[in-house]
Order: sequence, then structure tokens, then C-alpha cells
Amino acid sequence: MKYIHGTHEEEQERLFTLNRLLNNRCLEKIILNGSESALDIGCGLGVFTRMLTRQLGKGKVVGIERSTEQLEKAAQLADRDNEYSLIDFREGSAYDLPLQDNEWANFDLVFIRFLLEHLSSPLEALAQAKKAVKSGGKIVLIADDHANLRITLHTEAFEILWKLYCKVYESLGTDPFIGRNLVTLLHQSGFQSFKIDFVLFGAASSEPDFKHYANNLLGILVGAKKEIMNIGKLNSNDFDRYIEEIVQWSDLEDATLWYAANWAEAIS
Ligand SMILES: C[S@@+](CC[C@H](N)C(=O)[O-])C[C@H]1O[C@@H](n2cnc3c(N)ncnc32)[C@H](O)[C@@H]1O
Repeated sequence: MKYIHGTHEEEQERLFTLNRLLNNRCLEKIILNGSESALDIGCGLGVFTRMLTRQLGKGKVVGIERSTEQLEKAAQLADRDNEYSLIDFREGSAYDLPLQDNEWANFDLVFIRFLLEHLSSPLEALAQAKKAVKSGGKIVLIADDHANLRITLHTEAFEILWKLYCKVYESLGTDPFIGRNLVTLLHQSGFQSFKIDFVLFGAASSEPDFKHYANNLLGILVGAKKEIMNIGKLNSNDFDRYIEEIVQWSDLEDATLWYAANWAEAIS
């Protein structure tokens, strides 16, 4: 199954920056007592997984990731921060979690961020998550709903580009709007006591991180250039022209990017 963002160096850089922008906002919404065990499925570079490990001094934290490249980078980053000994990252799929017999039904918290929008069978992955979390334990899902994006660039070109980007997800058999369906997916998977929230991912131009948000937008679009061109029957020059519009917009003094990731949690 093709992963839209890939795992090349620029993409890993983008994912690392995204973690820097989002991790505190996510951690403060998870109420922990410090002794829980946690499972982070689709943990990517493991930056948030390590944050959980630091927070849960007494609990066991496991990260599962399918890509060898992501895991290599995750190990490098942990090593750089002198946290190599803290990590338990395992190569494996969300559809077939590499857990030992005594780990199933034993996690207090299962955390899944920005994975479900990349899966063609999210319910299959949630069935595994349900088996991993203990009875009375919590699951937290954070996923994209690409319709949440609002930017102050009101051109037809940008609208076309964003629609095509969403269509790339659909062409891969995945749902670019899955965020709005998180509670339904949790309900179908046998969880209960749902709670929802949004995690802000955006800024106005005068805020220090604005350029990082704008670059994230540019990064995901440029990263999917070939697929967007194919679906939209665009040539390379058209695509580059559309991208240049976003670059110019991002230099405006009143440029604003509003985005929120969908959050849903529930009890097993
Ligand atoms: C957008 S990244 C998010 C990473 C991390 N959760 C975060 O929020 O920083 C999605 C990750 O899911 C991984 N992934 C995709 N399909 C997967 C699968 N079937 N099982 C496990 N990981 C998968 C990708 O390799 C990628 O590292």
C-alpha cells in the first residue's frame, strides 16, 4: 500500500517539524497519571512516542511503525537525544501488531495519530487496537479531515490543487475526510464514552511558527506532485505556477492558515 507522503529526507524533516508544532498541544489533552502503559501505532519518527515515555516514567511505552526508513531515523533521533535506552520501537503493521502474548489487552492507552487517513481498512487496524487496549483503557485517535483547511488565498488555482490532493488519497483507497468519521469508527469497533476535540494546526503570519505551517502545506503538496499531476492532468509548469502562488501568499503580512486535526477518544 503506497503511503502518500513517502519517507524521503525532506518528508522526514516535515514530519519532525510537525511534531515540534503539535506535540505539546496533544500531550496536554491526554490526561495521564504517570504510570500508564501506552502503545503508539504508526509512530513515524517516534518523537511523540518518546514524549509519552518521558511522561510515563513508570509505564511501558511501545511504538509500532511499518517503515524501516522511519524506524532508522527514529532510532537516530533517540540516540541524538540520549534516549536510545528508553525506546521500544518495533517494525510491524497496524493490521498485525507485533505484540507478545502477555501484552495484548494490557495497554492503558492506545494512541494513533495521522495514520487512519493512510489506511484502506481503518476498521481492521482499530480491531487490532481494540485487542491491544485493556478493558477500561483509553484510545485516542487524531486524524485529518482535509475539508478543515481554510487559508486566505482565495484563488481557483489553490482550490483546484487542494481538491486534487484530496483525490490522490481517494485514488489510494483512503479517506481524506476520515477525521469527521472517527467516532463512528470507534463505535463500530466496540468502544464507548466518546469525546471529541480539535487540535489547532495553523497560525497568522505574524506568529513565529507561521512559516512552518505554510511550509508544511507546501511540503505535502510538492511531495505528491506526480500523483496530483496525473489525477488533474496538469503539466509540471502548471503545477509549479500553482505552488508559486502559495509561496507568494505566504509572504503577505495578513496571510493566515487555519487548520485543525480531528481528535476522538473513547474507552474500551
Ligand atoms: C503521517 S505519519 C505520522 C507519524 C506519527 N504518528 C506522528 O504523528 O508523528 C504516518 C506514519 O504511519 C506509517 N504507516 C503507514 N501505514 C502503516 C501501517 N499499515 N502500519 C504501521 N504504520 C504505518 C507511515 O510509515 C508513517 O510513518
